[in-house]
Amino acid sequence: MSKPAGLLTFPGFDSSLAKYMQKAQSDMLTHWHNPFEWAMNSLFQMSDAANHAVESLLAHQKESLSLLLGPVAGASSRPIPLDNATLASKGRIETTSVAVVTGGIGGIGTEICKRFYDDGHQVIATYIAMESERAEQWQLEHLKAGYDLDIVECDVTDFDRCKVVARQLEKDYKHIDILVNCAGITRDATFKNMDPDKWQAVIETNLNSVFNVTRQFVDGMARRRYGRIINISSVNGQKGQFGQTNYATAKAGIIGFSKALALELADQGITVNSVCPGYVGTEMVEAIPEDIKNSIIAKIPVGRLAKPSEIADAVSFLAAENSGYITGSEISVNGALFTAIA
Ligand code: CAA
Ligand code: NAP
Repeated sequence: MSKPAGLLTFPGFDSSLAKYMQKAQSDMLTHWHNPFEWAMNSLFQMSDAANHAVESLLAHQKESLSLLLGPVAGASSRPIPLDNATLASKGRIETTSVAVVTGGIGGIGTEICKRFYDDGHQVIATYIAMESERAEQWQLEHLKAGYDLDIVECDVTDFDRCKVVARQLEKDYKHIDILVNCAGITRDATFKNMDPDKWQAVIETNLNSVFNVTRQFVDGMARRRYGRIINISSVNGQKGQFGQTNYATAKAGIIGFSKALALELADQGITVNSVCPGYVGTEMVEAIPEDIKNSIIAKIPVGRLAKPSEIADAVSFLAAENSGYITGSEISVNGALFTAIA
């Protein structure tokens, strides 16, 4: 009998299997001159190794097939979360997807998180470091109200931090299926008073952030051939607004970004859309000087500010699995302000 060749490996070859194979190989090397003794000594190791090999190959074959074939027409390609047992123990029947909402503890972000939770998704809200205490308080209050929402610190203007956070989330949650880019700020001033700080801050936080965050999650979504990316723009990105050259630029940029990325991802099961709210009753609008705010509200055809939940409704619609044919779109939720002369 000739000396056995080196170990064969194959995709899906795991460490426990390697252990069995190595033991079998070492027995072969020791007893190669006595085939009968070797055969008897190795019988059980080889049978264990064979069982492991079959299990390992089956698991690998399943994964490879789903990657190779992609989604079956008409069937869901969304991955099944690994921790359904945990969710079931919390009284949740089955989660559909895992969603990340940047600026998730803000006025509109909070309503999106709650709406997603009601939709059955697992939700992770991001916040900035200086808001840690508020974020923990927010989480606790929502838990008391029946919303089990997760939080993670992430400054969306920091590309490297976004990368680290995204890697950790992909590791912890296995798959991120929905991304809502909602973090945003205003630094309003007429153009003659627009200094570089105001300009940069708004472009960094409202526009570059969308690149910083989306860039981290697209590869995973593409691999799994499923994703929903929703970017929060604004009516003022569509129509412009006095005192908002920075903000209108960023919000218009988001619409262009969404349309361009939608084209690149259209054949990969990933949709990219913008939601363009009008004026919504949050701190952002509360910060507008009272007289200017009242004059803006007076011009809204519906006659009032939007409720944050009304923006969340549109986001929830776009995030749904059966909204897969809506991509590259911008949905206006503005009480007809877009068509009004402001
Ligand atoms: N149209 C024409 N003139 C206007 C005007 C308007 N809409 N608003 C202000 N002006 C005039 C003022 O009357 C003033 O005139 P005078 O110089 O003759 O007095 C001049 O423009 C403004 O001069 P200021 O020196 O006060 O300008 P400023 O650089 O300090 O900026 C402002 C003022 C901060 C832009 C203030 O007008 C403002 O807060 N406007 C509201 C901007 C706004 O709508 N922000 C939305 C925030 S919420 C949001 O953005 C959410 C969303 O997506 C919808
Ligand atoms: P908001 O309550 O101020 O929420 C914005 C959130 O973004 C806040 O939680 C804020 O944290 C967070 N954020 C700011 N900078 C960040 C950063 N660098 N990294 C991570 N998070 C950051 O305002 P909102 O009204 O809910 O606005 C949400 C989104 O909707 C924004 O993109 C806004 O432009 C857009 N929008 C709002 C309106 C409106 O009328 N309210 C209309 C159209 C579009 P802090 O609280 O710590 O700053």
